[in-house]
Amino acid sequence: MKRVIAARLAENAGLAPEIFRMVLRLPEGEMPARAGQFVNVYLEDGAHLLPRPISVCRQEGNALTLVYRVIGAGTRRMAHLQPGAEVRISSPLGNGYTLPERGHVLLAGGGVGVPPLVQAAYEAKAKGLHVTAALGYRDALFLQREFADACDALAIATEDGSAGFHGNVVQLLMAQALPEDTAVLACGPKPMLRALQAFCAARKLPLQVSLEERMGCGYGACVGCVCKLLRNGAIVQKRVCKDGPVFDGSEVVFE
Ligand SMILES: Cc1cc2nc3c(=O)[nH]c(=O)nc-3n(C[C@H](O)[C@H](O)[C@H](O)COP(=O)(O)OP(=O)(O)OC[C@H]3O[C@@H](n4cnc5c(N)ncnc54)[C@H](O)[C@@H]3O)c2cc1C
Ligand code: FES
Repeated sequence: MKRVIAARLAENAGLAPEIFRMVLRLPEGEMPARAGQFVNVYLEDGAHLLPRPISVCRQEGNALTLVYRVIGAGTRRMAHLQPGAEVRISSPLGNGYTLPERGHVLLAGGGVGVPPLVQAAYEAKAKGLHVTAALGYRDALFLQREFADACDALAIATEDGSAGFHGNVVQLLMAQALPEDTAVLACGPKPMLRALQAFCAARKLPLQVSLEERMGCGYGACVGCVCKLLRNGAIVQKRVCKDGPVFDGSEVVFE
């Protein structure tokens, strides 16, 4: 059930050009978020009535970290908030990733699809899984230290070739041998997820993808965020905010 929480902004600083990290102090006793869940950020300005969905990057105790790219008016307004400000957010929403019981986990992220995989990396490590991250950036890197801490192996790709592999994440993975028991958890732009779907299908690897759709209400009431799945030969529609945002990557119809 959706609840609105009044959180206190502890930190809001740039990590890379147009990329910010926001740390919010939650009231005591809030339930921890799971990797892959998101919160709706409600901006107080009446001109921005729709909530901005942002994935949970990390939750440690009552410190909730969100990492976001400035895209338009809403995220620009978020970037101007000062420490000490009250920020209204929803309680964590959506289903989140399901970690396997054993074996290898590959976290594949691109751009602002990288942040939700931080929480996944720490949860997978705590479960004793072997964790590899493959992260793709346009140019400037962010959050590598967190992945280096939580993962057994980390590979970076940049589109401009300024660090790591020169190319995208899927091209990077093509050059690597993956254990047969690898579960792939992914978040990133649609072209990356589509290519990863083909990559995983060819290698018979299970894939979970976190999808982004423009949202209205952000909690299941308006059907403004539907995506299509191909399930048992039939197309079914699901709401990204309520039924997702994480879906079985083999079922998603990328249009
Ligand atoms: C489940 C989920 C998790 C997300 N997690 C992150 C994250 O961790 N970090 C991050 O940088 N971004 C994330 N996004 C994208 C983020 O929500 C948008 O970039 C943001 O809402 C843009 O708002 P704006 O007002 O700056 O842009 P504008 O383009 O002015 O937004 C106009 C409207 O469209 C909506 N909108 C625009 N782009 C998107 C988008 N890509 N997805 C959904 N709604 C959009 C806005 O919420 C707003 O209602 C996530 C989106 C979803 C659906
Ligand atoms: S945004 Fe309203 S149902 Fe998903």
